Amino acid sequence: MRFSWQGPSLVVHTPAKLNLFLEVRGRRPDGYHELETVMVSVDLFDTVRFAPGEHLALTVRRGPAALPEDDRNLVLRAARLLARHCDVRTGASMELIKRIPVESGMGGGSSDAAATLVALNRLWGTGLSSGELHHLAAQLGSDVNFFLDSVSAAVCRGRGEQVEPIDLPRTLHFVVVRPRGGLSTKEVFQRLDSGDVPSNRSSSAALQEALGQGGLGRIAEQLHNRLETPARELSRDVAESLRQLKSTAAAGAAMTGSGTGCFALCRSARQARSLGRRLRSLGKHHVWSVSGCS
Ligand code: C5P
Repeated sequence: MRFSWQGPSLVVHTPAKLNLFLEVRGRRPDGYHELETVMVSVDLFDTVRFAPGEHLALTVRRGPAALPEDDRNLVLRAARLLARHCDVRTGASMELIKRIPVESGMGGGSSDAAATLVALNRLWGTGLSSGELHHLAAQLGSDVNFFLDSVSAAVCRGRGEQVEPIDLPRTLHFVVVRPRGGLSTKEVFQRLDSGDVPSNRSSSAALQEALGQGGLGRIAEQLHNRLETPARELSRDVAESLRQLKSTAAAGAAMTGSGTGCFALCRSARQARSLGRRLRSLGKHHVWSVSGCS
């Protein structure tokens, strides 16, 4: 997350994420799934501007027309949660410039929510500690905690809210494609539950070791997403995107989160840019060339 003051307004650029590894370890009594996932922050940013105001109000400046500006939007939910928790009597006027695609598995809504908690904690001077912000983040969504501390990568467990940062010795470069249709996370998990219980669950240990050593071939071998099968079943576009990305000269490819975004791990920033251009010229997808960031 990057912060800057513009007069009385606080402006935050908040990143997207990609899941390099996602294993589902089982169902929990609360209906959620126990996860082990490795996420990296990438430099595709939403921007949220926070200005002092009497009431809480949100305007969405870009992105799909359907993106709500009411309590269905995580920005407003995060603001209300912090205000309630800290008994804040004033408001804020918030403007969201949306660049991270929705329902893509890139964590845009969660990233916006994390930015809101951190920014309003500063703007309102509520002084919550990192631990207290994490407690609120976990109530908003499973990926919100990952974004709170601006880490470049982490292993996340539990529902996804237990974040253990990991060091990345090298910058990773990706091309991300997002088919036209999105998928609801809930639907993808439901589809997973209707299928066979996997007999061989993977661990992220080998990927973490490969990330530590920095060899792209080994990192690519360890890309894994348990939600790929149900997402392919729900969206032919996911299957097609993965097939297309795997046929390129990139080191490897996988789906991120619950889809429908899919990415190729590239050998250099240059390869990510040129592959991005080539896929864009085919005109089939929204395409981004991105790199790891914090
Ligand atoms: O927590 P979040 O709002 O991101 O989750 C969206 C939906 O995804 C949940 O309502 C749940 O159906 C599913 N989910 C799950 N297990 C997780 C995370 C999400 O079943 N660990």
